[in-house]
Amino acid sequence: MALTVVVLAAGQGKRMHSTRPKVMHLLGGKPILAHVLNTARQLKPDAIRVVYGHGAKELLAAFPQTDLFWHLQSDQLGTGHAVAQALPDIPDDHQVLVLYGDVPLVGVRALQLLVKSLEEKAFAILTSAPDDPGGYGRIIRDQAGAVVQIIEERDASDEERLIGEINSGLIGAHAHALRRWLDKLENKNAQREYYLTDIVSMAAKEGVKVEGLKAADSKEVQGINDKMELAEAEKTLRHRKAVELMTAGVSLADPERVDVRGELSVGQDVFIDVGVVFEGNVQLGDRVHIGPYAIVSSCKLADDCVVHAHSVLESVVAGPNCEIGPFARLRPGTELAEQVKVGNFVEVKGSEISEGSKINHLSYIGDTTIGRDANIGAGTITCNYDGAEKHRTMIGDGAFVGSGVMLVAPVEIGKEATIGAGSVIVKDVPSGQLTVARAKQSTVKGWKRPTKPAK
Ligand code: UD1
Ligand code: CA
Repeated sequence: MALTVVVLAAGQGKRMHSTRPKVMHLLGGKPILAHVLNTARQLKPDAIRVVYGHGAKELLAAFPQTDLFWHLQSDQLGTGHAVAQALPDIPDDHQVLVLYGDVPLVGVRALQLLVKSLEEKAFAILTSAPDDPGGYGRIIRDQAGAVVQIIEERDASDEERLIGEINSGLIGAHAHALRRWLDKLENKNAQREYYLTDIVSMAAKEGVKVEGLKAADSKEVQGINDKMELAEAEKTLRHRKAVELMTAGVSLADPERVDVRGELSVGQDVFIDVGVVFEGNVQLGDRVHIGPYAIVSSCKLADDCVVHAHSVLESVVAGPNCEIGPFARLRPGTELAEQVKVGNFVEVKGSEISEGSKINHLSYIGDTTIGRDANIGAGTITCNYDGAEKHRTMIGDGAFVGSGVMLVAPVEIGKEATIGAGSVIVKDVPSGQLTVARAKQSTVKGWKRPTKPAK
């Protein structure tokens, strides 16, 4: 049967106390809604329809993908009313799976089971039994175990609030039945909203058996309504990623203290210390070692690279055996060949550094090409910007740049050239010779320090 997924994402999320629409808050580095849409796509449905309202502009800009259909719900009159916005465009013979934009961690497996149960039943809901059912709609079953009603916490009696089984919000139903029930919804409840959950009792009254599937892990159907729940979901996601990494053979100093906000692929015997953050697409080769509190965004680091503590790497490609940091900052366009060393307090951007070269301390290297086995002394700065334009610096193989040298670009340093410490280099430097560009040291004979006049 054909399948349409409807994602409800129109709410403002008042409990977040934010101007941003709730589903745009970041979870694992991506908007909450992105997780839901990714999961929906894995079901390979015939259509994904997103009901939106609050933060329309922000939402549409964040999700330009052409596989999505958007349905505006200008007034948020409830979850039932929200589904009704998309329903006119869904053919009668479709199965409909309703996902909530604020329930992002649900697994594909649970949804597949929900859809599968529609082969026999007209209606199915996903439930769970979390440690704390507070805030959720409670599931009411009859003596035979069939689901007969969902009662929202606000509308529930004290006794009903003791029920541990809750509504995840995710339901599956046949489009024609859903249409019939939604048409009859009323808003006689504490919030004056058209509750999607009320269709459960309608179905039960019609004698339709409602399947209540329990999620294997209550964490996967956790809703995000406030910042505490957002942090809780982040923790769940962090744990999942850590388990994935350890299953793949990665050693984690502490699985609770590594954040993967994107895709991370790893070779063998990788070690990741505490507090490391990965963003975007990161690839680590065999035996890569990432020290504590490093941030690694969209990088490709080959076998045996070592990144020491507190280094920040963005769009870096490094060959085997490079050593980076501690406290290095490598910006986009940094390409390190084999066995390159970039030490503490060194910033590099838009530069290629060839095999065996070293920049060990306190330097800025921008828009520079460095040959093999060059040694760049402490405090060397490439002056790449003249106030209007950026210029390149070329440094030949085996060059030795002394400490505290200013290389005013555009400038070229020859192979095996040596530059004396403290030089300001404004012209090209010849190969194989010593170049010094600084004032000569002199001593003033007989000079005396001034003294304070006697009182
Ligand atoms: C809802 C369920 C509750 C369930 C819980 C699970 C109802 C009435 N209640 O409660 O039984 O336990 O989710 O997390 O369904 N939305 C719209 N338009 C609206 C209202 C809501 O698009 O008019 C969207 C929201 O943006 C959100 C989702 O629907 O993504 C759920 O709405 P929310 O207000 O968070 O419902 P809960 O109170 O959490
Ligand atoms: Ca919610």
